[in-house]
Amino acid sequence: MSAVFDARRAWVREAVRRIEADFQRSSDTHLIPLPLPGFPGVDLYLKDESSHPTGSLKHRLARSLFLHALCNGWLREGAAVVEASSGSTAVSEAYFARMLGLPFVAVMPRGTSPQKIAAIEFHGGRCHLVDDPTRVAAESARLADELHGHFMDQFTHAERATDWRSNNNIADSIYLQLQRERHPCPAWIVAGAGTGGTLATIGRYVAYRRHETRVCGVDAEVSVFFDHYVSGDPTLVLDRGSRIEGIGRPRVEPSFLPGVLDAMVKVPDVWSLAAMHSLSVRLGRRVGGSTGTNLVAALACAQALKAAGRGGAVVTLLCDDGQRYRHSYFDDGWLQANGLECGAESDAIDALIDTGEWPAALRRGWRLAGDLVL
Ligand SMILES: Cc1ncc(COP(=O)(O)O)c(C=O)c1O
Repeated sequence: MSAVFDARRAWVREAVRRIEADFQRSSDTHLIPLPLPGFPGVDLYLKDESSHPTGSLKHRLARSLFLHALCNGWLREGAAVVEASSGSTAVSEAYFARMLGLPFVAVMPRGTSPQKIAAIEFHGGRCHLVDDPTRVAAESARLADELHGHFMDQFTHAERATDWRSNNNIADSIYLQLQRERHPCPAWIVAGAGTGGTLATIGRYVAYRRHETRVCGVDAEVSVFFDHYVSGDPTLVLDRGSRIEGIGRPRVEPSFLPGVLDAMVKVPDVWSLAAMHSLSVRLGRRVGGSTGTNLVAALACAQALKAAGRGGAVVTLLCDDGQRYRHSYFDDGWLQANGLECGAESDAIDALIDTGEWPAALRRGWRLAGDLVL
């Protein structure tokens, strides 16, 4: 019997070594300053998570989920890993599964874009399509059972798998990179929620390290997170999913922890995409939709500082590369077909960044909650 256990322990050790070696080979993601002429005294920074090997902030989560599952004894040599995701998480998990020689299956709604399927298959994953989008999680659990594998279940484990005290988590990295800036301790850190794991990590870290920083969560239009933050009602559900990839959920996910937030902003989708376009031009490269959502909320935090007559730093996330959305958010035909044309709004975001003049339509359309006074 001990030979079996020896082999199992040896496999887990080698798997952890490979993930740690990959981490050692990787450098940290950049912190990019974005000038805000319209908000003198406020320094805005973008944490560029698109520079990870798998192109998004989910590279960190996937690494944590695999280490968490390995050290819990949930993964076996050659046994499949299954995840309910059509997006960034599946791309990143496929990368780590291949590194460990494990088959990877991403369960997603039929109709998922061929580009996303191709991105997962590029890293060696297989895509399993289901007709009913609300059955993705249940089908993942069933398939993992059938394959005698493991359902990674990012929505449940995201907040547990990530080391929120340190260990180079995203917050640790942000404070390290701000050390020589004029405002080394940010007044605000802003991020959106898909699983809620990133916000949980940032919020817990700020509290644990006793930083003066406030944490602002941002929600997409078709999502329950903002209403849950306001009402505390855990039963909120919607009959359709978010239009901003990666953020917003039709039900309250277990890794979304409203208690770590000081404020929340809910941004209409047309303004998320408008900010995405404006920022892409300013950076000279495309960013994803959830980065646009982050930018709008970060500007709200900049306004709060300005209104209080204070300077300070605001940090938000550049979550993924916009090239992934060349067939959707960067396609005029797609925007038109989805009623999300945003040319005028994008010009208004430009004016806001340059002059500090707030578009009335945005102030009418968004929702604010918590300790955010504009
Ligand atoms: C592009 C993008 N932005 C933001 C997020 C939100 O991250 P989290 O799941 O940590 O809340 C995700 C999550 O999938 C994402 O893919």
